[in-house]
Amino acid sequence: MSADGATPTRPRDAARVAGMGETVFATYSALARATNAINLGQGFPDDAPDGAVLEALRAGADGHQQYAPMPGDPNLTGAIARALGGALARDLDPLANVQVTVGATEGLFASVQALVDPGDEVVIVEPWYDAYPEMVRMAGGRVVGVPMRLEGARWRLDRAALTAAVGPRTRLVMVNTPHNPTGAVYDDDDLDAIVAAAARADAVVLSDEVYEHLAFVPFTRLASRPGAWERTLTVSSIGKSFGVTGWKVGWVSGPDDLVGAVRAAHQWIPFAVATPLQRACATLLEGVASDGGASFARLRASLERRRDLLTAVLTDTGFTAHHADGGYFVVADATALGFGDGEALARALPAAAGVVAIPMRAFVSGEHCALVDGMLRFAFCKGDDAIAEAGVRLRAWRDRGFAAA
Ligand SMILES: Cc1ncc(COP(=O)(O)O)c(C=O)c1O
Repeated sequence: MSADGATPTRPRDAARVAGMGETVFATYSALARATNAINLGQGFPDDAPDGAVLEALRAGADGHQQYAPMPGDPNLTGAIARALGGALARDLDPLANVQVTVGATEGLFASVQALVDPGDEVVIVEPWYDAYPEMVRMAGGRVVGVPMRLEGARWRLDRAALTAAVGPRTRLVMVNTPHNPTGAVYDDDDLDAIVAAAARADAVVLSDEVYEHLAFVPFTRLASRPGAWERTLTVSSIGKSFGVTGWKVGWVSGPDDLVGAVRAAHQWIPFAVATPLQRACATLLEGVASDGGASFARLRASLERRRDLLTAVLTDTGFTAHHADGGYFVVADATALGFGDGEALARALPAAAGVVAIPMRAFVSGEHCALVDGMLRFAFCKGDDAIAEAGVRLRAWRDRGFAAA
């Protein structure tokens, strides 16, 4: 009740969430459902996973109903340590070097909680995954955004801008490769510039590599670069690699002191991650370890083909589509169609064309929003039928002169 005893009130929100908006993914997925539009917004596949995935899930549930150990189910931490250790040519200790988390999201959140004090600066490349800046703000950190550059049809890390942004107050540098939303895959010079900048400031690098198996060009893990391991936490998850984003099982890996700090935070967030899902993830990772990479190669080929299909649809509609070297998404510019405001277009598109895309404005700070005016992010991790139907709808919208509904 208010002071006059008449108007019902509720306790005030904590400053760390006050004024916080809804994530754009919740907003646009709800819009897709409400308008029956094709959802090329949120990045989740819409085709069924293959039988082996469901079989692993069933077997994982059998006899495993109680809490997993806090660092992670030993089968899963072992499988992650073997896979990552092989890729980094480093002997990893499953207990000391791996922490299982509730998706990459909790891995990122726990890492930020573990490393960022109020007032610390966190350098983040823009466009960014929209959770990053909010996680930093919740920890009391100060976000320093570094805009990428568009070079022809490809987005690139601006090494000079990143180097200039990292300074004595920088505690953390957050990067993502292969990159959502731009599809950029950082090359060795990019990675070395990130490590060198962090080393000068004695900062930690938080490298989000959830699309690690979805690069269509050679991909290098940041932690494999010289001087990187000691100051790098790598985050990944099962969702994108096996088309099971709803499982929300992820992990953080790195040197034991950094993983120990993440674990200190993680133990008070979820304590442990769903045991049956961890068992299932271990089975999937062991399966790919024994197939010599064939299933990831098939997944990449299938996604690359769908990237090409969607890029052709967007180009044919009149968008200027950018080139994605990895991940789930294509960025397309609608400026040439007469839409300078990508956010307004994204809101209108479901009713006008029956297709949902995410405005790129959601992935940049106010300071750098001019970078992405008129741009939308479209997901190509959808089935062939969905992409084809989106093509029919977008062309029909073009033929109506891009009219609103
Ligand atoms: C760059 C990036 N990081 C993290 C996540 C979240 O991963 P998870 O679903 O495993 O929490 C996503 C999901 O789209 C992503 O694109």
